[in-house]
Amino acid sequence: MNLRRSFREAADKKLQSAKVSNTMASHILILLSMVLMVGRTCHAFATPSNKIALITGGNKGIGKEIARRIGTEPGFTAIIASRDVALGQKAADDLKESGEYECDVVALPVPLDLTDDKSIIAAAKHVEKEYGRLDVLINTAAICFNDPTLYGKVDHTPFQNQADITIRTNYFGTLKVTQECLPLLKQADSPRIINVASAAGRLTILRSQELVDKFTSNTLTEPQLSTLMEQFVNDVQNGTHEEKGWPNTCYGMSKLGIIALTKILARENEGMLINSVDPGYCKTDQNNNQGTVDPADGAYTPYLLALMEQDDEDDGEDMSGLHFYDQQEIPWSYQ
Ligand SMILES: NC(=O)c1ccc[n+]([C@@H]2O[C@H](COP(=O)([O-])OP(=O)(O)OC[C@H]3O[C@@H](n4cnc5c(N)ncnc54)[C@H](OP(=O)(O)O)[C@@H]3O)[C@@H](O)[C@H]2O)c1
Repeated sequence: MNLRRSFREAADKKLQSAKVSNTMASHILILLSMVLMVGRTCHAFATPSNKIALITGGNKGIGKEIARRIGTEPGFTAIIASRDVALGQKAADDLKESGEYECDVVALPVPLDLTDDKSIIAAAKHVEKEYGRLDVLINTAAICFNDPTLYGKVDHTPFQNQADITIRTNYFGTLKVTQECLPLLKQADSPRIINVASAAGRLTILRSQELVDKFTSNTLTEPQLSTLMEQFVNDVQNGTHEEKGWPNTCYGMSKLGIIALTKILARENEGMLINSVDPGYCKTDQNNNQGTVDPADGAYTPYLLALMEQDDEDDGEDMSGLHFYDQQEIPWSYQ
């Protein structure tokens, strides 16, 4: 199976059917969308026919660009989730006002903080109350101590102190969001989860074959994975992580955990498209804007995954549990 080709074909097909459909049904849908758009003033709104996409960390960077792309797609409503509601609203206002095309985007009016389970539960409840379901969850929010001071935003953070906050935010926070959203996703016709990972989470950062075997096991469960992530934190805090084969990167481990989690979720939720993406080295606050890729380009593959057809017609297999970079599936073991 040529994944790259079929991924492109599926995505192109979806784009075509959304934008230049040649079937009567699609014409009617597009007509309906246009009628709804004409009636829209400054407030975007969801209709039962709209697909609902929730984007965590949507207030800036890659997440904001994902919200722009999805919100601009006919038949989609993008919901920006952020830990600071005012920042989310500012981003939604900006997307609605600044784009070349109308963007159907709203800000979640309640905060979603990856380190606060209650906020995650409340955010999912809000989506349930407002929309009754969720079609796409894009887990974008994350922190990164590549620079130990987060580029001057915090005091110098020693490595031992980075582990707990990084794993708690990026891995356990994303896990909690996903767990709370799964019942809502199950209400959708073609649900999907896109986890924004990173090259930092490639398998080759692990320095022990035993760990590689554990993380890549086809029988690994979420509780077992979560225990491994906790072990990493404990070993870093005890100063024993190197001798146990863990890498010297908390961010990398958090993303490695996200890629492993993606594969587990895909196995456990047949019929859902659940994939991870490396967006590339994008110019955002995360790297003090030193990245080389426009965040709009980094947002392209997550956007295609949100839109692609449910099954790959080459062999009837769903494209789920895979890791993508630049529009194509890539092995987790890349260098
Ligand atoms: N930029 C790159 O080169 C690159 C490369 C590979 C992967 N990635 C991944 O791409 C995703 C987006 O990153 P980015 O580059 O766009 O970075 P960014 O501009 O720094 O955006 C990060 C987003 O995550 C949010 N966030 C951080 N901690 C949070 C928390 N506790 N609860 C809720 N939201 C939280 C931030 O909210 P605030 O505004 O409130 O801080 C912000 O919206 C991340 O998963 C990142 O790891 C980025």
